[in-house]
Amino acid sequence: METVLYITAHPLDPQESFSLAVGREFIEAYREANPTDEVVHLDMYKEDIPQFDADVLRGWGKLRSGSSFDQLSDAEKLKVARLEAIVDQYVAADKYVYVSPMWNFSIPPVLKAYTDATSIPGKTFKYTQNGPIGLLSGKKALHIQASGSVYSEGPLAPIEMGYSYLTKVLQFYGIQSIEAIFVEGTASLEQAPAIKEKAIAAAKEFAKRF
Ligand SMILES: Cc1cc2nc3c(=O)[nH]c(=O)nc-3n(C[C@H](O)[C@H](O)[C@H](O)COP(=O)(O)O)c2cc1C
Repeated sequence: METVLYITAHPLDPQESFSLAVGREFIEAYREANPTDEVVHLDMYKEDIPQFDADVLRGWGKLRSGSSFDQLSDAEKLKVARLEAIVDQYVAADKYVYVSPMWNFSIPPVLKAYTDATSIPGKTFKYTQNGPIGLLSGKKALHIQASGSVYSEGPLAPIEMGYSYLTKVLQFYGIQSIEAIFVEGTASLEQAPAIKEKAIAAAKEFAKRF
C-alpha cells in the first residue's frame, strides 16, 4: 500500500476551476486503479500551515542553540510542532499530486507556504561536505497546473515560474520522477472546453501508470 498526498491549492470548487476539475478526475481514476493505496487530501486553504514568522524563526533558533522544546514560548511550541508534523507527513508519503492555478506566473501563496514547510534540512534534504542532497529519491510527483495562457512552449515559456519552481524544489528533495499535466490556454472561452476535455483524458490515462 502506498500513500498519496493530494495537495490542492485552490479556494474554489472543482466545478469552478479547471485545475481542480482535472485533479478530481485524476485522483478518482487513481483510486480506481489503486484501491488499496491511501489518498490523503490536503486542501491548502483548509490546512493550518504556519508562516515562517518570528515565533518559528526564534523557536528554531533556540532549539539550534541547545534549548529544549519545553523552553520555547507557547506560540513557538505550537508553530514549530505543527511544522514538524507537516514535514513528517510529507516524508512518510510515497507520491505527491499537486494541483494549482497559475497566479501571476507562479503558484498561489498557500502552496508556497506549504513548500516552505516541506523544505526542512534533515527531513527532505540534508547538507553534506559536497553540498546539499535530497532525501526523497524513489518518490514520485505530479503537478496539474491550469493557466490562462500557454507556457509549456512559445514566447511565454521563459516566464513560467509555477511548475518550474515546484519541479526545482522537488528535484532538490531528490525526487526524479516529476510529471506535469498543463491545462493551459483557459482564457480562450472558445477553446477552454476542449482544453479541459483533453487534460481530463490525459489525467485519466496517466492515473493508471502513476
Ligand atoms: C489572481 C490571478 C492571477 C492570474 N495570473 C495568471 C498568469 O500569470 N498567467 C496566466 O496565464 N493566467 C493567469 N490567471 C488566469 C488563470 O491562470 C486561469 O484562469 C486558470 O484557468 C486558473 O486555474 P483554475 O481554472 O483552476 O482557477 C490568473 C488568474 C487569477 C485569478
